[in-house]
Amino acid sequence: MAQILDIAQVGVRVPDRRRWEQYADEVLGFPTFRSSEGAVTYVRWDAFHHRLALSEGPEPELRYLVFDVGSAEALEEWAAVLTSKQVAVSRVDAAQCRERRLAGAIDFQDLDGHPVALGYGFQVAQEAVRYTRPLSVLRMGHVLLTVRDTARAHDFYTGVLGFKLSDWVHVTDAVRLCFLRVNPRHHTLALAPCRPGATPRLQHIMVEVESLDDVMRSYHHVRMRKAPVGMGPGKHANCQTIHVYVPTPGGFAIEFGYGHRRLDDTIHQPVIYPPGTPVDVWGGDVQSEEFVIG
Ligand SMILES: [Fe+2]
Repeated sequence: MAQILDIAQVGVRVPDRRRWEQYADEVLGFPTFRSSEGAVTYVRWDAFHHRLALSEGPEPELRYLVFDVGSAEALEEWAAVLTSKQVAVSRVDAAQCRERRLAGAIDFQDLDGHPVALGYGFQVAQEAVRYTRPLSVLRMGHVLLTVRDTARAHDFYTGVLGFKLSDWVHVTDAVRLCFLRVNPRHHTLALAPCRPGATPRLQHIMVEVESLDDVMRSYHHVRMRKAPVGMGPGKHANCQTIHVYVPTPGGFAIEFGYGHRRLDDTIHQPVIYPPGTPVDVWGGDVQSEEFVIG
C-alpha cells in the first residue's frame, strides 16, 4: 500500500508579493528569490530548493499543498487508488513540474476544495540557506487547514489518504481541532473548523526550528520590529510544541516551533482532549486580530 511520507511544498497566491518578500527578509528571516520569468517567488528555509512558492492574486489563496510519496511508482499507485475512490486526479504538466521543482505530481481536491497534490523528486538546494537573521530551521512540520466539517475531513484524510489520527483537541464544544500524522511527527496536518460564513483556508505553516533559542529569538525579533505576534511564546497541550506564531501579509501565519512530539505507532492510542483544553498550557491567548483559528 502506497504511503504519504511527508509534507513537501505549499503554493499560495498573495495580493502583494513585494510586501511578502520584504516581510520574509525583515521579519521572518527567510531568503526569497524569483523564478527566471519572475512570476513566482520561492521561499527557502531548509535543505530544499524552496518550501513555499508565492504568486500574485487578488486575495490570499492556497494554490497547492504537496505531499511527498517518494517515487514515480508510488505516485502511479496513488493515482489508481484515488481514482478507485472516486477522487478526480489530474496530472501536473511538465511546465508546472518545472515551476514546482519536482519530478512528477498529481493534483486533486479535498472535500472542502483545498487543492492537494501528491508528488515525488523534490529539488534539493546546492548551497546552505542564507537566513536574514540568526535562525536555523530543520524542516517544514505541518500546515493547519480550516474546513467546514472536521469529522468529514478527518474521514477523508484517514480513509482515502492514509493519515493516522493522533488526537482531537476540543478547545470548546464547537471548536474541535483534529491532528493527523503520516510519520513519527505528532502531526503533519491539522484541521480546524471554519468560522461561520468563512471560506476554508490555509491558516498556518509550521517550520520546525533547531532550538528553543530559535523560537525566542524569533519572538523578540518580531516584537522589536513592531510586527504582530499571533500567539506565543507558548506550549501546546497535545504535541508539546513550544511555539510562536507570526501572521504574514499573505493571510496565513508562520509558526516557529521547537520540541514537537514524536509518536510511536505501535503504542500511541488516539486521545480526545476534553472541552476547556487550552491551546497554550502556559496560559497564553491569541494576541492579534490577524491571527484567528477558524
Ligand atoms: Fe501548528
